[in-house]
Amino acid sequence: MARIIGCVTTSHVPAIGRAIEKELQEEPYWKPFFDGFKPVHRWLAESRPDVVVIFYNDHGLNFFLDKLPTFAIGAAQEYRSDDEGWNIPTVAPFPGDPDLSWHIINSVVAEDFDITTCQEMVVDHAVCNPMALLWPGGKPWPVRIVPVEINTVQFPLPSAARCYSLGEAVGRAVASYPEDLRVLVMGTGGLSHQLDGERAGFINKAFDREFMTSLTADPQWATKYSTLELVEKTGSQGIELMLWVAARAALGSGGVREVAANYHIPISNTAAGMLLLEPTG
Ligand code: DHB
Ligand code: FE
Repeated sequence: MARIIGCVTTSHVPAIGRAIEKELQEEPYWKPFFDGFKPVHRWLAESRPDVVVIFYNDHGLNFFLDKLPTFAIGAAQEYRSDDEGWNIPTVAPFPGDPDLSWHIINSVVAEDFDITTCQEMVVDHAVCNPMALLWPGGKPWPVRIVPVEINTVQFPLPSAARCYSLGEAVGRAVASYPEDLRVLVMGTGGLSHQLDGERAGFINKAFDREFMTSLTADPQWATKYSTLELVEKTGSQGIELMLWVAARAALGSGGVREVAANYHIPISNTAAGMLLLEPTG
C-alpha cells in the first residue's frame, strides 16, 4: 500500500528562484534560509520518496481571476513550469503520476469534495521553488508529483477548516492506494506576508511561531479562525498558510515528530518558514 512518510511545508517566494539561478545560497542574506534545508536533504536521502503530493496555490498562471476553482487536482503525465511574470527561470518539467492522481480525485469526490480535474496544468513558483529547495539541481527530478491546488488568491476562499478536511481526505486516499509507494506531502506558501495595500510589509512573528508549533500536536489550531481573521493576523498573502494546514492534515491524527524547522525574517516581503514532520506511528 502507499504510505505517507513525511510532510514538508515551506515558503515559496519567487526571489528564491533568482537566488538559485545566481547561486547566492552562501550570501549572508540567503544563507540562514538555505541552510534550513540541509537537514531536509539528509532526511530525503534516507527516506527516498517516490511521489510528492504538493498542496499549493496558483498565482494567475494556470488559472486566472476569470475562472478560479476553489480546489483543483492535476492528473497530467507531466507538468511544465512557467513564470507568471516574476522573470525567474523555468525548471525541468515535473513527471506526473496520473494513476495516483485519478485515485485521489475519485476518492475525494466520493467524499463530496468538488474538484476541478486538470489533465493539463502548468505550475508556477509555488511548485517550482519548493521542489528546487528540496532537490537542488532537479535534473531529472527524482520524484513524480501530484499537484493539489487551493484558491488563496481571490475571495471567496475556502476556510482553513475546509482545507484541513480536504487534506485529511487526500491522506485517506493515499493510504488506500494499492501500489507500494513512499509519498511525501508538501504544503507551500506563507508564512505571514502582505505584498500590497496599506499594510504592505506586514509580518506577524508571534502568530507564525504559534502556528508552526501547533502543527506537530494540535494541527487543527488554525482552523478556529475564519479566512478574514487569518488575513488580519497574517496578511493578504499570509493566508497561504492554509496550504500548510491542508498538507499537515494529510498526515492524519496519529503521532507526529518534528524533524527540522526553520524561521527567518525577511525573505523578500515574507517571514520564511520551513517545517519537516514525520509520522511516529
Ligand atoms: C512574495 C511571496 C509570495 O508568496 C508570492 O507568491 C510572491 C511574492 C514575496 O514575498 O516577494
Ligand atoms: Fe505566494
